[in-house]
Amino acid sequence: MRILGVETSCDETSAAVVRDGREILSNVISSQIALHRPYGGVVPELASRHHLQLIDSVINQALAEAGTAIEEIDAVAATYAPGLASSLLVGLNAAKGIAFATGKPFIGINHLEAHLYSPLLVPPWNSSALQRSNDLFPMVSLIVSGGHTILVQATAVGEHEVLGQTVDDAAGEAFDKVAKLLGLGYPGGPEIESLAEQGNPSAIAFPRSMLDDPTDNFSFSGLKTAVLYYLRKRGSAPQPSPISHEPSVSDICASFQEAVVDVLVGKMIRAATKCGVQTVSASGGVSVNRRFREKLGAACIRHGWQLLLAPPGLCTDNAAMIAALAYHKLRDGQRSEYALDVFPSIGLGRGTSP
Ligand code: KG4
Ligand code: ZN
Repeated sequence: MRILGVETSCDETSAAVVRDGREILSNVISSQIALHRPYGGVVPELASRHHLQLIDSVINQALAEAGTAIEEIDAVAATYAPGLASSLLVGLNAAKGIAFATGKPFIGINHLEAHLYSPLLVPPWNSSALQRSNDLFPMVSLIVSGGHTILVQATAVGEHEVLGQTVDDAAGEAFDKVAKLLGLGYPGGPEIESLAEQGNPSAIAFPRSMLDDPTDNFSFSGLKTAVLYYLRKRGSAPQPSPISHEPSVSDICASFQEAVVDVLVGKMIRAATKCGVQTVSASGGVSVNRRFREKLGAACIRHGWQLLLAPPGLCTDNAAMIAALAYHKLRDGQRSEYALDVFPSIGLGRGTSP
């Protein structure tokens, strides 16, 4: 079964063709980062207009790279939630139009649920035998992106329970806001990560918010405020390299990143221990972060857990994860109506199936 997936929930226009939920035939991603960079964040109207201009060519390119004519597609899937309403509408309507014109089934997909199962697109975890066996599930999984930080226990593809989530800012949002405070570019995560490489993660003791809290929830707005107060207190702008005894920008980045990573990894270890799972996974833009991968990897080795991480291109927004999850939903008999609306702010717990 070849499924055409379409993703336009934020600032990436993406289309992909995936066979049987596990083999990526194409995954075209057109990023709008350069368009939004001068504004320090995504401008919704610019994003939706840009999706409109690109959606046709991105879909055609995905079909061409997959060597698949539009009539050979077995179903069409698109993100319907969550995200920017005006952006979601572009991809969802394009997908509906193609499904209608070709007479193929159409299904709307929850973007967060697609992130959650994206590591299952990667060998060896994409094997159907492995996915049906008890070797992957149950797993504790973290979805950590610009808009969300959610800890989940999954017992099978499509069967999951939210354990906890952020009570204020998402981890990626904290990276983006702190980068802005430091005068760095957008998106903040990659900028902070690369500066942190030269910095000392112990230079400043930023708070590990809610790390000792008994719930599986997170909080990152206090950490962002701690960076703001640190910068205000110190008065002068931090220098790129340590010219005095004061921490450099790299030290601030490394100390901030360490605080975020300690909380994310610490909470994952606690949840995995509590749930008694043998598998841990992470997805979403922040899971690209190398320090996060390093510390989570070390924790999993210590505990004897297998760790599922997708390559960076499948962690950030992409349509392959949409087409892959659609395969499992369609196989279970699910379909969406053409009247399906967009839902900008639904989460993962309820309403994941349209
Ligand atoms: O999953 P994603 O592409 O889009 C959303 O659904 O939000 O995630 C984007 C977020 C941004 O906040 C970005 O700063 C963050 O992921 N990010 C990173 C890294 N790469 C992207 N955060 C930390 N380290 C990175 N290397
Ligand atoms: Zn995302």
